[in-house]
Amino acid sequence: MQTRKMRLLLSCLLLTTAAMTVPAATSSAATMNSQTNAQPWGDRQLSPDQRAELLLRAMTVEEKKLLVFGYFGSPMKDKGYFPPEEARMGSAGYVPGIARLGIPPQWLTDAGVGVATQRDSLAPYRERTSLPAGIATAATWNPALAEKGGAMIGKEARASGFNVMLAGGINLVREPRNGRNFEYGGEDPLLAGIMVGAQIKGIQSNNIISTIKHFALNAQETGRFVLNAKIDEAGARMSDLLAFEIAMEKGEPASVMCAYNRYNGPYACESDFLLNRVLKQDWGYKGYVMSDWGAVHSTAPAANAGLDQQSGYIFDKKQFFGAELLGAALKDGSIPMERLDDMNRRILHALFATGAMDNPVEIAPIDMGAHAIITQADAEEGIVLLKNEGNLLPLAASAKRIAVIGGYADKGVLSGGGSSTVFGPGGNPVPGLGPQHFPGPVVFHASAPLNAIAKRAGKDQVRFDPGTDPAAAAALAAESDLVILFANQWTGEAMDFSLTLPDGQEGLIQAVAKANKNVVVVLQTGGPVLMPWLDQVPAVLEAWYPGTRGGEAIARVLYGEIDASGRLPVTFPQSLDQLPRPVLDGTDKKQDEPFDVTYQEGAAVGYKWFDREGHKPLFPFGHGLSYTTFEYGDLKASATPDGLRISARVTNTGSRHGQAVPQLYVGPAASGWEAPKRLAGFQKLALAPGESKQVEVTVDPRLLATYDVAGRAWNIAAGDYQVHLARSATDIVSSVPVTLAASRLSAVKGQQ
Ligand code: BGC
Repeated sequence: MQTRKMRLLLSCLLLTTAAMTVPAATSSAATMNSQTNAQPWGDRQLSPDQRAELLLRAMTVEEKKLLVFGYFGSPMKDKGYFPPEEARMGSAGYVPGIARLGIPPQWLTDAGVGVATQRDSLAPYRERTSLPAGIATAATWNPALAEKGGAMIGKEARASGFNVMLAGGINLVREPRNGRNFEYGGEDPLLAGIMVGAQIKGIQSNNIISTIKHFALNAQETGRFVLNAKIDEAGARMSDLLAFEIAMEKGEPASVMCAYNRYNGPYACESDFLLNRVLKQDWGYKGYVMSDWGAVHSTAPAANAGLDQQSGYIFDKKQFFGAELLGAALKDGSIPMERLDDMNRRILHALFATGAMDNPVEIAPIDMGAHAIITQADAEEGIVLLKNEGNLLPLAASAKRIAVIGGYADKGVLSGGGSSTVFGPGGNPVPGLGPQHFPGPVVFHASAPLNAIAKRAGKDQVRFDPGTDPAAAAALAAESDLVILFANQWTGEAMDFSLTLPDGQEGLIQAVAKANKNVVVVLQTGGPVLMPWLDQVPAVLEAWYPGTRGGEAIARVLYGEIDASGRLPVTFPQSLDQLPRPVLDGTDKKQDEPFDVTYQEGAAVGYKWFDREGHKPLFPFGHGLSYTTFEYGDLKASATPDGLRISARVTNTGSRHGQAVPQLYVGPAASGWEAPKRLAGFQKLALAPGESKQVEVTVDPRLLATYDVAGRAWNIAAGDYQVHLARSATDIVSSVPVTLAASRLSAVKGQQ
């Protein structure tokens, strides 16, 4: 307690000093409010375009320079940097407002699971609700939950004084070793697009801005500042870019964050192709592009390529969009004034379109109890039952003599590392683990699975062993009727990870499995891991990083208080040689040594690659068992003028309530696509015993097409296709043929 108080004092002191070193902000919420009404752009009857235009015309050039430059929101001792006084302590960013015109400051916070605190910031951590990891939310296949979760964290952001949330991580899982996969929406553009789009929509329902990030092809952390992602245009359009495109249509994020890496040559934040061509011309995007923190390398090239705002200054080498360099570029004509206008117009548009302009943020109390219920529901539906031999799960309430082993299950549940980490209520119950500084230390949420299990089984029936000594753990297992073994892999930003469970946990599982045949392994990982021990245990549950109420959520699924209804948003490989790149690119490079990563698989990401190469995964995309049984049938497919409609029927044939996730895949009867089939639709259906429900899906025509680079269009080829009703990418229940006519859809929105 004492240390926290001292830290607070210290950081207040530092932040006060900061006012002397950086120009103070020129805005306050109160003045802003009264002025908005008195000024023509304050008229809420006008469209965001009209309002932005009116306001832009009232701005001086100096003011226009102000809005396009952002500061890091936390002190950096080693660089002697202190953010402006008005920045929120320990935050990701701050852009001064303009009080005279009623433009609020932009207060920026990470990230996708809730309101984070920069870990090395000296500021006291904000204790906020954490959703489960992005990959866990994707595993729910339930967009309504994603939207609710987004609305909840957006509400906490607003109540914490933030009007920009750096959420919306959607880089496809091309590289299962990527340390940030936990922040993203899995490997499929449709699933990721729908789930991440829903979350963004929820966040922005609080009249704040959400980003979508990292645009684009930031698929690994190794060499992220220097690597050049090489991919053919059609391949990118049909995979990573399509994921962004779908999510942006669903969620309408007011800002896009460009990535660190290079993309087919130029840096993503100075890629004319990505920013001007794809995003702004083809997709008709009206919001603004902000850079990732330290992703800007120039003034005129970046601005002219479409970057609208430099973020988090102190991370970049120079104040590229600061008043001085920007002023010089305007003066020598290397940046036209219209471009500066456009940059501002886009930022203003975002503030108007989301309602951030009309609804100033205010620090307010947070209903942590209500929010805990929301995150728990998300975690419960994201947990995937991978294996359940002999129906060991769900546990009976009468199960006795239970050994809980490993994973700090007596303390809490794991979360992912880096800028997105949220510190949960009660702080970090397992301090001191992992790297001391960014992206560490490892943070747990104080929701101990052990307590939640003991609450159900009775305290005297449950014993805990930390799992650090396999022999001791095995001895406890031998004296128990059932073992629940927690195996963790912490992953985090700025690093990649092997797919092998660390810290001798594979040996632990094997030793325990020898001593007891009823072992349930509960994994907390940020993505796929290899399981050489799989045959030795009857049950495996993937809990990902389950958030603030993860312990309760895990226990509820173990005990069948809710069906196991998560499905994998990512393929689990059997071995590294099944991957497009068995060896992670860049591992042999010195720091800052540039290298290429060639995505020769193009759009064949994840299960598409496995299908195409004939690899059998350990667990396929879409896989997940339930506690009840579902019959899938009545599959029908019919061509429509703009694509394809599919219907099917699902019946709960078991005796328990459950949730099915029927998946519809489509592929050409011959060849012609990047892979034999693509996910074309899905639904999550809650079904009582005996109940049937109809699945109805209208397929997005882009999922039936290939991208034609020269024609700048999506082309559906005339011919025969197969439609599959499936439980996973490898478990097809039935298939029907359908014939499609040729058709063409312009890649440029609004054009024929
Ligand atoms: C990350 C972004 C994050 C930003 C601000 C960067 O290192 O890549 O995702 O939003 O920092 O913390």
